[in-house]
Amino acid sequence: MLKIGILGLGTVGSGVVTIINKHNQAIKRKVGTELKIEKILVNEKKKKREVEIDPDIITDRAEEILDNPEIDLIVELIGGEEPAHQYILKAIENGKSVVTANKLVIAKYGSEILKLAREKEVQVSYEGSVAGGIPVIRPLKESFAANRIEEIYGILNGTTNYILSKMTREERDFAEVLQEAQDLGYAERDPSSDISGSDAAYKIAILSSIGFETTIDVNQIFVEGIDTIELEDIRIADELGYVIKLLAIAKRCEDGLDIRVHPAFISKEHPLALVNDAYNAIYLHGDAVGDVMSYGQGAGQMPTASAVVADIIQVGRGIYHNKPEITIIDSTNDHKVKQINQVENLFYLRLQVNDKPGVLAKITKVFGDNQVSLASVIQKHKLTPVVPIVLVTHRVKEEYMIRSLEQLKQLNDVIAINNLIRVVEL
Ligand SMILES: NC(=O)c1ccc[n+]([C@@H]2O[C@H](COP(=O)([O-])OP(=O)(O)OC[C@H]3O[C@@H](n4cnc5c(N)ncnc54)[C@H](OP(=O)(O)O)[C@@H]3O)[C@@H](O)[C@H]2O)c1
Repeated sequence: MLKIGILGLGTVGSGVVTIINKHNQAIKRKVGTELKIEKILVNEKKKKREVEIDPDIITDRAEEILDNPEIDLIVELIGGEEPAHQYILKAIENGKSVVTANKLVIAKYGSEILKLAREKEVQVSYEGSVAGGIPVIRPLKESFAANRIEEIYGILNGTTNYILSKMTREERDFAEVLQEAQDLGYAERDPSSDISGSDAAYKIAILSSIGFETTIDVNQIFVEGIDTIELEDIRIADELGYVIKLLAIAKRCEDGLDIRVHPAFISKEHPLALVNDAYNAIYLHGDAVGDVMSYGQGAGQMPTASAVVADIIQVGRGIYHNKPEITIIDSTNDHKVKQINQVENLFYLRLQVNDKPGVLAKITKVFGDNQVSLASVIQKHKLTPVVPIVLVTHRVKEEYMIRSLEQLKQLNDVIAINNLIRVVEL
C-alpha cells in the first residue's frame, strides 16, 4: 500500500480526492499497489467539504503529515508562496516525494527544490503547475528529450484569453468583460495576477527552464498585461489580419534567451489564433520534431486534478517499485535572459494627431532618424481636427521604438499615443 498525504482540500484537492475514489482500482493497477489517502491538511477543520471524507483524516496540523513516517508521498495543493514552499522542503528533507500544482513555488524555488530532491533521492513532479490538464512538462522532459527546443509560445492564462476572446467576438470593452468574467467565476475577485501577465510569467519560467535546461529567474522576465488593450486595437488588428492574444514567449537567440509575456498581434492564420475562451495552448519547435501544438483546458478543478493524479500515479509507481526517477537538475546551462529593449519585433502603434499638412512627414522623420522603418501607415478618415493614425513597423529593436515614441511625444501635433503593441511573427 502507498500512503499519501494531501496538503489542501480546496478546488484542486477535492478534484484529486474525487478521481482517486472514482478510479481506485485502475489506479491500483497502474501504481502496482493500493493508494491510500492517510491525511489531508486544511485551514479550517470544520468547513463543509464538497467531497465526502472521513473526518478523522482531516487535520490542521502540517506536522501530522510532514513528519508522519507512514506517508511516502506529499501532494501540495494549498497554493501560494509560504508556507507551501517550506512544507515542500520539509517533506523532501523527511525523505518524501512531492507532487504539486504550485506554479509560484516551482517558478521561484524550483532549482532549490529539485537540488534537494536529488540529494535526498526523492521525486518531485509538477505537471499541474502549467496549463492544467494539458500534458506539457512531462512531454518536454521525456517525449521531446531527443530535441533541442528552440522556441515555445504559449497561451497560458485562461482568464485573459477568455476576456480577449469575448472582447473580439462580442466587440465589448475590457472592463465590462472582466466584470462579467468575475460574476461568472471565470476570473477571481482579485484578478491582478492574471491580468498583469504574472501568472503566465511563472508558467513560461517553468517551461523554459525545462526546455532550455537552465534556471530562469522569473524576475528577469518582461511582463506586460492586457488592461491597456482597447476595443479599437482589437478592431484594427482584425482589419489588418491579426488577433490579439496574451502570449508567453521563450526563444533561444544567439545573444541570450528571449523570454517575455505581453499582449501580441498574431496572424489570424496561425493555430494559436484559434485558441479561444478559457482554453490554453502550447506551441513549440524542436529541432527534430518540428512544430508541435497542445491544446486543452488550462485550469479548473478536474483538468488540473487529472494532471496531479497522473503525477501521483507516476511517482507512486517509482516509490512502490523502488525505482525513483532520477531528478534532472535543470541548470546545465546558464543563459542570460535578454533585456526587452534588446528584443526585436514588429510594432503596431496607434496615435492621435492634428489633421494638418506636414504632420505625417514629421512623424515619419522621427522614425527614420531612429532607424525604424515603417511597413504601413493608415490614417483613419474622420471629419475632426484630431485624427487617429495607425502605424506598423518592420522588425526593429525595441529600444529604437521607445526612443521614437519619446521624440513623438515632444511633437506639438501628436495629441496622444494610444497604444503600442508588439506584432509577433510565428
Ligand atoms: N484552481 C485551479 O484551477 C488551478 C489550476 C492550476 C493550478 N492550481 C494550483 O493548485 C493549487 C491549489 O489551488 P486551489 O484552487 O485548489 O486552491 P483553494 O481552492 O484556495 O484551496 C486551498 C486549500 O488549501 C488549504 N490551505 C490554504 N492555506 C493553508 C495553510 N496555510 N495551511 C493549511 N491549509 C491551507 C485550504 O484550506 P480550507 O479549505 O480549510 O480553507 C484549502 O483547502 C495552487 O497552487 C494553484 O495555483 C489551481
